Amino acid sequence: MLAEGLRKRFDEKWALDGFDLAVPAGTVCGLLGPNGAGKTTAVRILATLLRLDGGRAEVAGHDVEREAPAVRRQVALNGQQSTVDDVLTGRENLVMWGRLYHLSRREASARADELLEQFGLTDAADKRAKHYSGGMRRRLDLASSFITAPSVLFLDEPTTGLDPRNRGEVWREVKRVVADGTTVLLTTQYLDEADQLADQIVVLDTGRVAAQGTPDQLKSRLGGDRIEVVVRDAGELPVVAEVLGAGAEVDHDAFRVSAAVADRVAALTRVTSALAARGVEAEDIALRRPTLDDAFLAITGHKAVTGVQA
Ligand SMILES: Nc1ncnc2c1ncn2[C@@H]1O[C@H](COP(=O)(O)OP(=O)(O)O)[C@@H](O)[C@H]1O
Ligand SMILES: [Mg+2]
Repeated sequence: MLAEGLRKRFDEKWALDGFDLAVPAGTVCGLLGPNGAGKTTAVRILATLLRLDGGRAEVAGHDVEREAPAVRRQVALNGQQSTVDDVLTGRENLVMWGRLYHLSRREASARADELLEQFGLTDAADKRAKHYSGGMRRRLDLASSFITAPSVLFLDEPTTGLDPRNRGEVWREVKRVVADGTTVLLTTQYLDEADQLADQIVVLDTGRVAAQGTPDQLKSRLGGDRIEVVVRDAGELPVVAEVLGAGAEVDHDAFRVSAAVADRVAALTRVTSALAARGVEAEDIALRRPTLDDAFLAITGHKAVTGVQA
């Protein structure tokens, strides 16, 4: 999957303003960004649901504009809008989707049962979807995008609003279709989700790529692991800074000194004994790996998620 200089304008505003993407077949790309960054716009263009205003894109080897029908035959999309039919039961919804994907009646029925089980809907399988809770509808909708393994699967914020158990189910299904060779483009506001699933992360901010790389590459931009020492008495901060050496950062308000370390456990031992030798009793000594949250904040200047995460 490939995008070059994609642009899309709504009225006077550029939702995408020169968006580039290269996703090798069979890998997962996590498209990360805050609300309004342009994630859904990018997905809808790549899935041929929206026309582009500039640039070009190829999905499953076909141009999204000139060969849209060929693209459509090879992709599946789970968007933020539900495809659930209210008057059908959960099982009937899945069987219907299976039939649309050309499974035989028997195959569609077997696949529906598997998915109902995986997404925790077996007990509700024969209830009409209109009686489902919001979370159940979301799960049924997601289950429908896993009926077959398409060449390319677009998942637009697949786990927003799901509880941790159901997020885990979705992650497992994503890993399964990837193992079957599907290429996945997944948008998310959750950094841990991208960390779990993505081979490559693209950080989108106001229609442009702000950063990209593997989760580890993005984290290591921050300079790797750090050691943090917290003391009880501000008077001890200079001694601690001296022990941690060049590059130590002192936070006077938090009574904390931190520094980058290359050798984790050895550094911990070295710092602990050096502090003891100088008579400093630390309140806390910890090693910390930078998180994707740290990376995101450093890259975009704001936090990824503003709301409370499920
Ligand atoms: N159909 C539309 N009409 C007008 N503006 C839109 C439309 N769709 C998206 N936008 C605008 O484009 C920008 C990107 O939106 P979107 O792609 O939905 O972001 P995200 O999915 O990252 O939250 C936002 O400023 C949004 O308001
Ligand atoms: Mg969106």
